[in-house]
Amino acid sequence: KTRVAVLISGTGSNMVSLIEAGQAPDAPYEVVLAVSNIADAAGLDKARALGVQAVAVEHAPFGKNREAHERAVDALLREHGVQVVALAGYMRLLTPWLVRGWAGRMLNIHPSLLPLYPGLNTHARALEAGDQEAGCTVHIVTEGVDEGPALGQARVPILPGDTAEILSERVKAAEHQLYPQILMKFLNAPKP
Ligand code: GAR
Repeated sequence: KTRVAVLISGTGSNMVSLIEAGQAPDAPYEVVLAVSNIADAAGLDKARALGVQAVAVEHAPFGKNREAHERAVDALLREHGVQVVALAGYMRLLTPWLVRGWAGRMLNIHPSLLPLYPGLNTHARALEAGDQEAGCTVHIVTEGVDEGPALGQARVPILPGDTAEILSERVKAAEHQLYPQILMKFLNAPKP
């Protein structure tokens, strides 16, 4: 089974769905490590409760030196024999150094129908634009933020009375289905 690490910054609900799907006997992967840049991220305890090692590598002590923080995270990934990295609500901009080191082996989930709304506050922006639907995208991570090739998307309707909060819950339910499914498809696809 492919050894997967999930990088988080907060709640970790996508991480939970990735861990659980990877625990199925016939899954092509197993989540072996959860890493957070925030020490008290709720997701860390959720990972532990599911039997997955969870470690915080805080960015704050590294100050402005993003790459030094990433080198610490990267060392941990390599120590654990990680083969594929799944970003799941990891709210850090990545340097080219990390992206190049994991080229073609790092996935991200973004809460919009990319190329619409890269960056932050995607749900508020979709509502503001008067869109009829929203969704999420799983993509390969490249150097441009939220720009890598899409591997899959899921769509949800935007309903009258939606707030960013309500819409975010609806999109998250779709994310929880999409991410494990696309990760499995990605791992099962023949590699060039
Ligand atoms: C998810 O909606 C994910 O798509 C989004 O953060 C949320 C994390 O939730 N990611 C980004 O905005 C990346 N820029 P979770 O911690 O419950 O999985």
